[in-house]
Amino acid sequence: MTHILILNGPNLNLLGTRQPETYGTVTLKDIEGMCAAEAGKLGATYEFEQSNHEGTLIDLIHATKAQGIILNAGAYTHTSIAIMDAITSANKPVLELHLSNIHQRERFRHHSYISKVAFAMICGLGASGYPLAMRAMHEHLAL
Ligand code: DQA
Repeated sequence: MTHILILNGPNLNLLGTRQPETYGTVTLKDIEGMCAAEAGKLGATYEFEQSNHEGTLIDLIHATKAQGIILNAGAYTHTSIAIMDAITSANKPVLELHLSNIHQRERFRHHSYISKVAFAMICGLGASGYPLAMRAMHEHLAL
């Protein structure tokens, strides 16, 4: 059975109230519910985590027994060589995910360290990107 880690970085715990014009009004709890429903449809299991701390995100990447990781690293996407290295060391497929279209936003969001080590990236679809990412990961792991 496919087991997927959905990992969320800094400030994503504030979804629902944080810049709704950019990120929508869906909360992280709602998104977890969407992921649970998708896991049920796929016949997959999942872990859903969020941390505001770079080191904790790295520890979760090291420790997970998941076969694949869906990662919304938040602002660490644009800064964290350490998270990029953790993904390389974990040696498992990572799908990079963003609610917003990072390429339509400020210039500093156009560069992603995660993209260097992810097999795919979904951005700009809001919360709907999460179940889509799970389906894509499930299919990727079945290849
Ligand atoms: C984000 C995009 C990042 O640039 C930003 O720092 C976030 C959220 C997104 O999901 O659109 O925190 O990862």
